Amino acid sequence: MTIIVTGGAGFIGGNFVHYMLNQYPEDRIVCVDKLTYAGNMSTLAPVMDNPNFRFCKTDICDRAGIYAIFEEEKPDVVINFAAESHVDRSIENPEIFLQTNILGTQVLMDACRKYGIKRYHQVSTDEVYGDLPLDRPDLFFTEETPIHTSSPYSSSKAGADLLVLAYHRTYGLPVTVSRCSNNYGPYHFPEKLIPLMIANALNDKPLPVYGEGLNVRDWLYVEDHCKAIDLIVRRGKVGEVYNVGGHNEKRNIDIVKIILKELGKPESLITYVADRKGHDMRYAIDPTKIHRELGWLPETKFDDGIKKTIKWYLENREWWENIISGEYQNYYEKMYGDRK
Ligand code: NAD
Ligand code: DAU
Repeated sequence: MTIIVTGGAGFIGGNFVHYMLNQYPEDRIVCVDKLTYAGNMSTLAPVMDNPNFRFCKTDICDRAGIYAIFEEEKPDVVINFAAESHVDRSIENPEIFLQTNILGTQVLMDACRKYGIKRYHQVSTDEVYGDLPLDRPDLFFTEETPIHTSSPYSSSKAGADLLVLAYHRTYGLPVTVSRCSNNYGPYHFPEKLIPLMIANALNDKPLPVYGEGLNVRDWLYVEDHCKAIDLIVRRGKVGEVYNVGGHNEKRNIDIVKIILKELGKPESLITYVADRKGHDMRYAIDPTKIHRELGWLPETKFDDGIKKTIKWYLENREWWENIISGEYQNYYEKMYGDRK
């Protein structure tokens, strides 16, 4: 089977590429990634020599480039991770979010229609459901919860979801959609809460907590997300949406304190800063459907996952220090500039 994985030089896509090549060494993985600031070739360095792996530096909005890859590779499955993914950046500059997240998705699906595929999978987010109030811990997002977005990021993801489901209904494209909660784990770009706090704590820099730090996120170890996507692609029902999350809600301030404690750093590093505009209060996934229909359950408990993650950042300082210094952006040219 040939699988196109878009956004494979990013956090979740990179973990997914590693997971799939380990799990199914006979499958061919073609990674399509534009290498924006969030794409990092050193994440893929361990698999670049694998004969069943190919990397294409291509924008998913580049129709001719995408069609050429489909023509050559004749993929069976396309899994779309590629996106602008950071809420704060979407508040500063919404346009690129609409381009990549909506129009890029359309280009990929048009290619799927033109060349034919067995499955197109859209990696979406729980943020399309908006947020839940802090004083209603009995409420969770189900697949029936109305779409009700807050940020340009979540709106662009919701737009893409609707388009994907429309391509199924209108053209019969065999699609599935997964909506996952916050991921954490190796290769997480240090602009997001957990890796940023780890990096700052290790550098004895202030830890910027938005507002009062009372917002709640539902954290899932990235490998559990990869396993859920794999399962949905292989056994999920065409035209369906699956929520992915593990009932692991935590307040931001508690996450920050856990990280400081693990690293033996003082809480005096915590600095409260101005809140994010339109900041969602609480996310919480009800994963009943994926559990009941596909037997999926998260395997990594938060206590173990956060320790593993912190250990990874301690053992891979070069990976995130190169990001902070900007050095990683020269990596592709240096390592792969002459390589076809
Ligand atoms: P990321 O920002 O770490 O990686 C995104 C990747 O997409 C990068 O490698 C980037 O270079 C690539 N990319 C961006 N624009 C592109 C374009 N136009 N063409 C080709 N490649 C492009 O993101 P992530 O956190 O790994 O998220 C991956 C997907 O999962 C996204 O669709 C995101 O919405 C979704 N998601 C993320 C989380 C989370 O907690 N991080 C949770 C649920 C869903
Ligand atoms: O829920 C899934 C989503 O999770 C994904 O769709 C997004 O791509 C992903 O980025 C993530 O979005 P969040 O906005 O929840 O993640 P972020 O790490 O940016 O922030 C997590 C929480 O921490 C949020 O309440 C804002 C807060 N925060 C974040 C940063 C970067 C801080 O308090 N300080 C910070 O410096």
